[in-house]
Amino acid sequence: MKEFSKSSKIGIIGAGTMGSGIAQVAASAGHSTILFDVDPAVLKKAEAALKSLFDKLIEKGKYTRDQADQLLHRISFSTTMNDFHSCELVMEAIIEKLEVKQSVFSQLEKIVSESCVLATNTSSLSVTSIAAACTNPERVIGIHFFNPAPLMPLVEIIPAISTHENLPISLKQLITDWGKSVVIVKDTPGFIVNRVARSFYGESIRIHEESWEGIPSGTIGFSTIDWAMKEIGGFKMGPFELMDLIGNDINYTVTETVWTQFFYDPKFKPSLTQKRLFEAKRFGKKSNIGYYNYSLPQPFPAALKDLVLAEKIFMRVVSMLINEAVDALYLNVANRDDLDTAMLKGVNYPKGLLKWCDEIGAQIILDTLNGLREFYDEERYRPSPLLKKMASENKKFYS
Ligand code: NAI
Repeated sequence: MKEFSKSSKIGIIGAGTMGSGIAQVAASAGHSTILFDVDPAVLKKAEAALKSLFDKLIEKGKYTRDQADQLLHRISFSTTMNDFHSCELVMEAIIEKLEVKQSVFSQLEKIVSESCVLATNTSSLSVTSIAAACTNPERVIGIHFFNPAPLMPLVEIIPAISTHENLPISLKQLITDWGKSVVIVKDTPGFIVNRVARSFYGESIRIHEESWEGIPSGTIGFSTIDWAMKEIGGFKMGPFELMDLIGNDINYTVTETVWTQFFYDPKFKPSLTQKRLFEAKRFGKKSNIGYYNYSLPQPFPAALKDLVLAEKIFMRVVSMLINEAVDALYLNVANRDDLDTAMLKGVNYPKGLLKWCDEIGAQIILDTLNGLREFYDEERYRPSPLLKKMASENKKFYS
């Protein structure tokens, strides 16, 4: 079994948003860390950004100057991968293009020692397809951090079908020691979070688009749906606020990728409403307009505060979310605890979805889905076989 220690040197490829965040995480945990990028200007920018971040953290009293200096001293910046020769783990966080990643991995393999582990931070490519570029794919694995890496507690570890069976456990130990909540996920589109969370967005957009419950199309405004999900569901942010924060460019692309990779399964079908926002460059907060117009006074109050309607909105969305989590369990994408941890720590849901299923009752979730399926006549609403089994046997996920 591969063992890591504080003296294990860590390499990171790509000094953009994710790479520089991951470098900070590794250096904070005491590792000597090398951050590499093909673009020297990006490296300079990353170095300056880290310095100014730590100046701010010192001001806030989170670090002493000595501690910050020691930490920053552990990160070196490099324009050649040759510096990775003594690394025990190299994590890649470059552009999301399969051919580029494959080429980097095959070059990397020739530089590092035989025992070095090679990881990718990809969000949407199959880890197996990246590992296939290597002569020793047993040491290739996915380590998926969330943005911003130093603040987001969740890390998904994704063994490819070719990954050595002990590697996920060794890495889980290492990254847990870095203070993260680590889950292990099968190499499937969207892993846990980006798969299970899809209907939070997609189903909410459909509710908005439709003439629903006798209310004309488009009348159930974004703010009403956001309010319903927060008021009834206890979500910290509503779906439209969250999409505007993530960016409709990123959120739309993830949805389209997951849908395509699941061979166009209607459960994951993207929405035209969001595609048009993307085309109009209405990305959300970063472009000052998305579902909401951020030049208007905030917060955006709910247009319609109807608790009966809110309950219906919540039940429709939460039933879809729970069904996906149950189906992911059914398909062995991850175990029960990891599925619930991922949604709690990766997207800040108020409850794990399997726990939520127990609380609401599998039969009620099943009835909601069956009602939607009958009404729409769409496969999108098909219940997971496991949900049907839990309902018919009156079972709970947590006993
Ligand atoms: P970014 O665009 O901020 O940074 C990518 C960096 O890689 C750039 O600095 C670029 O110069 C460098 N680069 C490109 N080709 C290279 C090569 N051949 N060798 C070395 N460096 C190279 O991208 P970001 O957002 O940091 O994403 C990186 C990876 O992390 C992608 O695979 C992305 O899907 C994944 N990811 C991104 C998240 C996000 O929210 N931004 C969240 C989780 C994963």
